Amino acid sequence: MNNIFTDSKTFYGFQNKEVSDESLHEIYELIKNNATSFNCQPLRIKFLKSESAKNKLKPFLMESNLEKTMKAPVCAIIAMDLDFYKDLPKNFPAMDAKSFFEGKEKFTYDTAFRNSSIQGGYFIKACHILGLSTGPMSGFNNEGVDQEFFKGTNIKSNFLCNLGYGDEQHTYPKAPRYDFKDIVEIL
Ligand SMILES: Cc1cc2nc3c(=O)[nH]c(=O)nc-3n(C[C@H](O)[C@H](O)[C@H](O)COP(=O)(O)O)c2cc1C
Repeated sequence: MNNIFTDSKTFYGFQNKEVSDESLHEIYELIKNNATSFNCQPLRIKFLKSESAKNKLKPFLMESNLEKTMKAPVCAIIAMDLDFYKDLPKNFPAMDAKSFFEGKEKFTYDTAFRNSSIQGGYFIKACHILGLSTGPMSGFNNEGVDQEFFKGTNIKSNFLCNLGYGDEQHTYPKAPRYDFKDIVEIL
């Protein structure tokens, strides 16, 4: 891949090649220094690599996402910790940002969802930098996954992302995108 923004594609199948634990560490090392509001860190990741871990996910996958996920070398649960603001004194020492969130459920949820989604975008691009292909998915039962993997915590799933070394037979030609003139304004 020459350019991770213009040349990347979504993959629905992967080569039969392991993704090393070292690569999974490298993904996070690339993600962690990128921008979020108040430098908050809501992102939580569970990498499901073993068959037993993926079997726990199986009942909660939409039918059309089942086979490709079970066959993928790794499926990542991209999640968000709604208690993220409790660490703000450490993550954003410049001011008392924790107090902005205390007792503000909607603001806390919106901030966690916005920033974990941005961090999820960093995740996808970090994979591409490392030569890994991705298959993000929102077609699953979030409540079921939260119950199975995050019970007793304030962590909620955002989206899933299969990863591995892409198999060109399991991808599609790019669908159309808008041109600049269609959706952008310079004021
Ligand atoms: C947040 C998100 C959720 C998605 N959910 C699914 C899904 O549940 N099942 C699926 O097959 N593809 C899913 N996709 C894949 C998209 O359809 C795909 O990325 C898009 O069509 C662009 O394809 P391209 O990257 O090959 O250009 C999802 C992608 C994203 C970013």
